[in-house]
Amino acid sequence: MILRLTLRRVGLGLAALALGGLLVGWSGVIYVGASGGHWAATEWFLHWVMRNSVRTRALALEAPDLSRSALLDRGAGHYATGCAPCHGAPGERQNPIVQASLPPPPEFTRRFDEWTPEELFRIVQHGVRYSGMPAWVAIERHDEIWAMVAFLEALPEMTPEEYRRLAFGPGGARQPSSGLIGIDAINTGGPAPPMQEALADCARCHGMDGRGRDNDAFPILAGQSEAYLRETLLAFSHGTRHSGMMQPPAARADDAVLGEIAGHYARQPRPPVAAPAEPALLAEGERIARQGIPAEGVPACLSCHGGAALARNPSYPALHGQHASYLENQLVQWQAGTRGGGPYRALMQTIAGRLTPEQNKAVAAWFAAQDAARD
Ligand code: HEC
Ligand code: HEC
Ligand code: HEC
Repeated sequence: MILRLTLRRVGLGLAALALGGLLVGWSGVIYVGASGGHWAATEWFLHWVMRNSVRTRALALEAPDLSRSALLDRGAGHYATGCAPCHGAPGERQNPIVQASLPPPPEFTRRFDEWTPEELFRIVQHGVRYSGMPAWVAIERHDEIWAMVAFLEALPEMTPEEYRRLAFGPGGARQPSSGLIGIDAINTGGPAPPMQEALADCARCHGMDGRGRDNDAFPILAGQSEAYLRETLLAFSHGTRHSGMMQPPAARADDAVLGEIAGHYARQPRPPVAAPAEPALLAEGERIARQGIPAEGVPACLSCHGGAALARNPSYPALHGQHASYLENQLVQWQAGTRGGGPYRALMQTIAGRLTPEQNKAVAAWFAAQDAARD
């Protein structure tokens, strides 16, 4: 007997299939446990789908230069907080609890030959659905994600000593007790750590003295205005300032502890300035800082970031002696709409939006070369 295909029969067939699917789901016969793993065919299929999705979506990306050493420091510091608890690290075995999840997070002991840097970027930015792999906390901070990719590329050949120096500071200040401290770090629900413990975590990246490393991996906190530091930490903690690297440590401490830490860093002496930039760049930067760019409606930076203004309104940050690359990047982030900030962030969003890339660079270089706040 031959059944004629009619629209009605196709419709009925589909409805029966959907009903059958619902019944199977309802009956409870589908096994959702993580024990026992996937069938080989399921595993192959899932990885195939994931690989194709990542490859296609990475086509439009192009990796920037990933060779700067500061990127490694930055990536390593965050890897210890946000990735090592699942993926392990040189000298730190993966935790057996983590290995019992499905799919188990891969241990990164081999080179990432399967992935290009652009594909790694995609995975780290968006995570992998239906696995434990989380998305980046601030997916709009491409600069941070590229730093992580730079670190991942170097990871398989890294010795435990090198990893600890990068991730825990020059003295390897804080040793991991087990893979679980990091899980604790991502879990923002637990009891807040007291001031000293929270500060020890900050010091991995910023140092106890707030000077960061001997490169420009981390912004200088020493001698910054206490009010600005406090408001900034609350902004990270509450998500109005966006950073996949800073939001987790800030969210982990409660507001009172963040206030104490702000006081600690504000009391540290500001370090002497690093190497000066080319004179033409500095002259252009000084002009913008002192006079602004009237034709573009840009006010003089020193009207808020100068010595007298800082004394008047402690919510304005000091820029003198800060790393030029950090200052420039903050302006770029505002221009891209991804910086956010504290209660006065809208002021800077507007001002930064009127600067060109060359002006960003010049004014950042000038502030970086100033030993003290100028009026
Ligand atoms: C809660 C556990 C967990 C955390 C935290 C985590 N991952 Fe993953 N990650 C996974 C799992 C599970 C997979 C496997 C996904 C799959 O194959 O479908 C994975 C896959 C990956 C991959 C693809 C590797 C490959 O060869 O297939 C990369 C790269 C990666 N993670 C990087 C990171 C980075 C960088 C971080 C920190 C920012 C991180 N992961 C944090 C669980 C985690
Ligand atoms: C994994 C490394 C890491 C850890 C740990 C860390 N930071 Fe940061 N911090 C960074 C990076 C990277 C930035 C730059 C963020 C950006 O580009 O927006 C930053 C920025 C900041 C800023 C903003 C500075 C400015 O001028 O606006 C403050 C304040 C700060 N961190 C304080 C802290 C405190 C306090 C802790 C501990 C609770 C901490 N950080 C822990 C890496 C870290
Ligand atoms: C009207 C006051 C005002 C003026 C004028 C001003 N700023 Fe700002 N600026 C601020 C405030 C307020 C913040 C802090 C924003 C936040 O993060 O909440 C800030 C932050 C910054 C930061 C980030 C500092 C850090 O540590 O992250 C940079 C860089 C900056 N300003 C550069 C400039 C430059 C360059 C100019 C001149 C073209 C300028 N500002 C003019 C008020 C001002």
